[in-house]
Amino acid sequence: SILEMEVEQINKGNYEHYMQKEIHEQPESLKTTMRGRLIRGGSCKAKTVLLGGLKDHLKTIRRSRRIVFIGCGTSYNAALAARPILEELSGIPVTMEIASDLLDRQGPIYREDTAVFVSQSGETADTLLALEYALDNGALCVGITNTVGSAIARHTHCGVHINAGCEIGVASTKAYTSQIVVMAMLALAIGGDTISNQARREAIIDGLFDLPNKVREVLKLDQEMKDLASLLIAEQSLLVFGRGYNYATSLEGALKVKEVALMHSEGILAGEMKHGPLALVDETLPIVVIATRDTCFSKQQSVIQQLHARKGRLIVVCSKGDAAAVSSGGSCRVIEVPQVEDCLQPVVNIIPLQLLAYHLTVLRGFNVDQPRNLAKSVTTQ
Ligand code: G6P
Repeated sequence: SILEMEVEQINKGNYEHYMQKEIHEQPESLKTTMRGRLIRGGSCKAKTVLLGGLKDHLKTIRRSRRIVFIGCGTSYNAALAARPILEELSGIPVTMEIASDLLDRQGPIYREDTAVFVSQSGETADTLLALEYALDNGALCVGITNTVGSAIARHTHCGVHINAGCEIGVASTKAYTSQIVVMAMLALAIGGDTISNQARREAIIDGLFDLPNKVREVLKLDQEMKDLASLLIAEQSLLVFGRGYNYATSLEGALKVKEVALMHSEGILAGEMKHGPLALVDETLPIVVIATRDTCFSKQQSVIQQLHARKGRLIVVCSKGDAAAVSSGGSCRVIEVPQVEDCLQPVVNIIPLQLLAYHLTVLRGFNVDQPRNLAKSVTTQ
């Protein structure tokens, strides 16, 4: 009806699509996610994280033998992005499960496990069934959802709401970045206040406070990503190479492109390049390489060199000031992003790829907010 159309226009504000609105909303949604949870004490009080829904369970989580992340789609990718910092700060082994695969295998889950269920909607059937399975096996079950009162929020023992605000576009954008931030805070909370981690912990908390500003800065790449999209409009395929903290960025970037732009895209762990994907490299196939500054940077530089040697058509995402360092040895397009604390870099790095997927979709003439065959919340198995 006309009324429904008008309400929709009001909800979208000045944006053409919900996905576009939700991408540009991220400085604000991230602030809401962190509100009241980060404490920057005075001169003597240390910086800490307060997650109300977890505080009574932290001791149990710290004693667990393993933390298992369980989710589907974008929520799985967000957990993958947070895995390294959780391992680093907690010292507990962290494993990853796609919900349907855990169920297919009836994989082992024990009483000594903490199972963390990540879901924007809190209603995804596969994730919910995996939750029932983990409850039956006696694990401590933690929920990370964006929907208060959802099935996953209700059935877990404890949890954290990501508070990103309602997400309408089928392709998840602002929920993804808020999920990563919540799981970084989870890592800080589980890690506790050991002296050996203090400097690292404070750097992450400072980084979290400044993250909305950095996200606002990276959103200025909008026009640049639109220009890039117009160059890629007729491509059949796009590869995305990442590693370390940004392996998840490569999977999530590729997922956005295939979901909405209906273009084949694959996220590839850069360390696996020589074990297969290298065979695909030629002068025509576009390849995005994520090579921002962290401990993997030099390895990523040598990946770029190997791709240059095969005349690969590269698009490199690098830290500000690194354009020359990454483009020597061949021609490539460079996208410079602000540098943040390594474990938070996935939040910044996904944004140009969200913008690319959005513009590619609009230019190719497809439905951005409701891609064919997909649903926002998959409540059947
Ligand atoms: C569907 C949606 C995806 C989402 C996935 C998991 O496939 O299309 O965007 O990432 O479900 O959803 P959840 O609500 O559990 O995060």
